[in-house]
Amino acid sequence: MHRDIERVLISRAQVASRVHELGAQIARDLAKDLEADPPSPDGQPSEERVVLIPVLTGSIVFVADLIREMPLKLSIEVVGVSSYPGKSMESKGVSIRHELPKGLAGKHVIIVDDILDSGQTLDVVTRLAREQKPSTVRTCVLLRKPGKAKVDFKADYVGFDIPDEFVVGYGLDYDGFYRNYPEIATLKVEAR
Ligand code: IMP
Ligand code: MG
Repeated sequence: MHRDIERVLISRAQVASRVHELGAQIARDLAKDLEADPPSPDGQPSEERVVLIPVLTGSIVFVADLIREMPLKLSIEVVGVSSYPGKSMESKGVSIRHELPKGLAGKHVIIVDDILDSGQTLDVVTRLAREQKPSTVRTCVLLRKPGKAKVDFKADYVGFDIPDEFVVGYGLDYDGFYRNYPEIATLKVEAR
């Protein structure tokens, strides 16, 4: 694996420190919303209304770290999306592989993905979430490639802006591999 890596763009330490900031900020914002919530008719405590939705598979490493930086009660429900099948390095359109959870009405939803590229993935997933009338919907991505947007979509929380290069590591893959590489890096041409 290591011999296929060309260059590290964001180190493990940089990722960790930014993830710590993001987690704290999201938790602060959610706490404010929860305070402002009206009492629920079914008596559910407002602190049990936070649902974090990781977009599989790329967000798994990020989410594992992020949730441990969020000091509040939350549940996790996944959604599965495929946009870069196999060896493709650009979005082929979004297909839902594992549907969104039901029962998001009145909840505070936070959708987490690894990277915002064309914007299509999060655009589709947030639309589907909003159909269920959650109380709030937020989106968080670790990485963003500015200038690549095909749809007008803005994430609420962004870890890092990166140049328009194909990256792997920390959950991001090429053809299913390199998700376990601990830093954000580019791949050598020979490896793609
Ligand atoms: P979008 O729908 O074009 O915004 O793309 C988002 C999805 O594409 C992410 O969830 C990733 O799975 C994938 N993706 C986009 N850019 C990269 C990259 O540089 N490396 C690996 N996966 C990527
Ligand atoms: Mg993905």
